[in-house]
Amino acid sequence: MKYIKRKLTIEKVSVETIAKKFGTPTYCYSYGKLKNNINNFKRNFKSFSPLICFAVKSNTNINLLKEIKKFGLGADVVSVGEMMVALKAGIKPNKIVFSGVGKTSHEIRYAIEKKILLINAESESEIKEIEKIAKIKKKKVQIGIRLNPNTDAKTLSQISTGKKENKFGVNSKSFIKLVELYKNSKNIELKCLSVHIGSQILDYKPYEKMLNVIMKILNKVNHKFEFIDLGGGMGISYTHKNKVFNYKKYNFAIKKFLNNYKSKIIFEPGRAVIGNTGILVSKVIYIKNSGKKNFIILDAAMNDLMRPALYGSKHKILPSSKSNRISKEIYEFVGPICESTDKFRTLKNFQKLKEKEIIAICDVGAYGMSLSSNYNVRTKPLELIIKGSKIKIIKKRQKHEELI
Ligand code: LLP
Repeated sequence: MKYIKRKLTIEKVSVETIAKKFGTPTYCYSYGKLKNNINNFKRNFKSFSPLICFAVKSNTNINLLKEIKKFGLGADVVSVGEMMVALKAGIKPNKIVFSGVGKTSHEIRYAIEKKILLINAESESEIKEIEKIAKIKKKKVQIGIRLNPNTDAKTLSQISTGKKENKFGVNSKSFIKLVELYKNSKNIELKCLSVHIGSQILDYKPYEKMLNVIMKILNKVNHKFEFIDLGGGMGISYTHKNKVFNYKKYNFAIKKFLNNYKSKIIFEPGRAVIGNTGILVSKVIYIKNSGKKNFIILDAAMNDLMRPALYGSKHKILPSSKSNRISKEIYEFVGPICESTDKFRTLKNFQKLKEKEIIAICDVGAYGMSLSSNYNVRTKPLELIIKGSKIKIIKKRQKHEELI
């Protein structure tokens, strides 16, 4: 995203052109950024060439998944639906890992039939269910056990997953017990220890702690794991003030770990791959003044982008045409939905806006479209991918007829 001759552009296309040609609200993704993110991610960890399984939940667009697949990434899925999309995108089953605390028998059966790399189990009951199904199917199924390392990820409580009060994984004691119980199972092959401590993590230290916990446990069990799945969670910079994640230090900590425990590392990044690639282009419908502030009423709403309403997340908002006319008033960017949480940002010193002007909400590639809904019988936005000056529709705007 940059201004060229005062016009906001994504790759070589101006946001105003997108709005004029395709209407609003519209999600646009930059192919160049996606490519850079993936290459950087690989470069950061190149000394041990990890298996990178893209967390499909962060963006489920099949056309984006097809591009991601071309870079050699696998998929981390959390439902049969996500598994189906990943397979349809051409991702090979031996690069798919399946997480989640509530996998149904149907989902487990599907995963076994498709011969995916790992089912990362999150409870004793789930392992029993996998074993039962594997036995009926006369198969030996590769599984991981997700450890809850009781590590504070130092991120928002709503997206923390690695503390003992969280529903995810099993604690150290249960982990050790389960390894003993299942390491010689006929129908289960215990291949992996998996963890995922949270999302939008900006400090590498929680990961360092997590690695220490893992190492302690590995020293206590009499079993060799081929894979260590470290999950995802690496954060990105949403506002200028945000710090950036220190990949060097994380890489260093993992290398130290690998010196003591030879294994193949798996990552499950979502946000780090796709987060900063996307913008949501929207139009100002009305502006009204409450006597205290200006409400900038957009045609995008919380159903299109849930993060601000759900987590109080702050996304940058940029005008499509840059001017020097700065407003001294408070601007509150809201959507048309009948809820007070349908609000994107409150900003001061924003440039003066007019009705019908176009703006872009930034860094919405992860958990933007994938968290969207049809609340208020609003249709879901169009999705575009931009490569240089080329624009491709990767998902059509939903029509009301599809909903009614
Ligand atoms: N692996 C597992 C098992 C996960 O549960 C998640 C995310 C990931 C990988 C990918 O995490 P990432 O690299 O994207 O941080 N909706 C929230 C984020 C929820 C994340 C849920 N799990 C948001 O918009 O911030």
